[in-house]
Amino acid sequence: MSQTTYTVAIVGMGKRGTHHATAFHNNPRFQVVGVCDIDVSRLEKAAAGLENPVTSTDADDLLSRVKPDVLCFCTLPSQRLEFIKLGVAHGVKLIAYEKPMALSTNEALEIMQCVREAGVKTVVSHQHRYGEHYQKVKEIIASGALGRVHTVYGTATGWMMHMMTHLIDYIRWFNEEAEAEWVMGPMYTPLLIILRVSSSSPTACGGWWRQGPELPTCPRLTIGGASVV
Ligand SMILES: NC(=O)c1ccc[n+]([C@@H]2O[C@H](COP(=O)([O-])OP(=O)(O)OC[C@H]3O[C@@H](n4cnc5c(N)ncnc54)[C@H](O)[C@@H]3O)[C@@H](O)[C@H]2O)c1
Repeated sequence: MSQTTYTVAIVGMGKRGTHHATAFHNNPRFQVVGVCDIDVSRLEKAAAGLENPVTSTDADDLLSRVKPDVLCFCTLPSQRLEFIKLGVAHGVKLIAYEKPMALSTNEALEIMQCVREAGVKTVVSHQHRYGEHYQKVKEIIASGALGRVHTVYGTATGWMMHMMTHLIDYIRWFNEEAEAEWVMGPMYTPLLIILRVSSSSPTACGGWWRQGPELPTCPRLTIGGASVV
């Protein structure tokens, strides 16, 4: 039985967008039908390496023209909701995009509402899970070779939105996706209304939080960082 081939358009042809586009291009299940970037030189360079699909400097225009099954966007973290809404408006089946999922709780909730109502699937790039190195760590912990693991610290260089969602993802994964019991975080975010403990220390810039019974409809969100399990 032949497998479906999905058409895909990629927006943001920087470092990540080029990686994604190359991977789609090399996968026989996908056909790269369009690429977009506001930077014309990046756009042309990327298109040349992808057998010259349709190009545009405007994502709305590109999606109107190529009507892809999949929208993949790799723009900066401040640009999430707008491209989610754009993909939904153009009837794509799946939106693949880069971490962080959103820059705020409200934005994340709006994204979830938007894609759920439209029945559109999404996937956020936490690709290291699929790497042999991280899978080996998971395997060692799960085997019990280290004994009972009661603390996992996640640290990274770089800015918070660059690595923090990766850290949360690994820590939850290594800990059998356990639900958080408590959380701490910085004082300057509205997220604190659901936090039990807070700290102004710059080293405590993130943590786990728990969905309390008083907030039954509040989903778990991967915002902030974590060092405590
Ligand atoms: N998963 C990972 O391991 C990983 C690693 C690095 C970066 N990222 C994420 O990937 C995203 C992109 O990072 P990058 O390093 O590729 O950035 P980049 O700056 O190299 O590329 C972003 C591109 O988006 C283009 N762009 C901006 N606004 C646009 C618009 N309105 N329409 C079309 N194109 C637009 C820019 O011109 C640029 O070419 C970031 O959100 C970052 O957090 C993920």
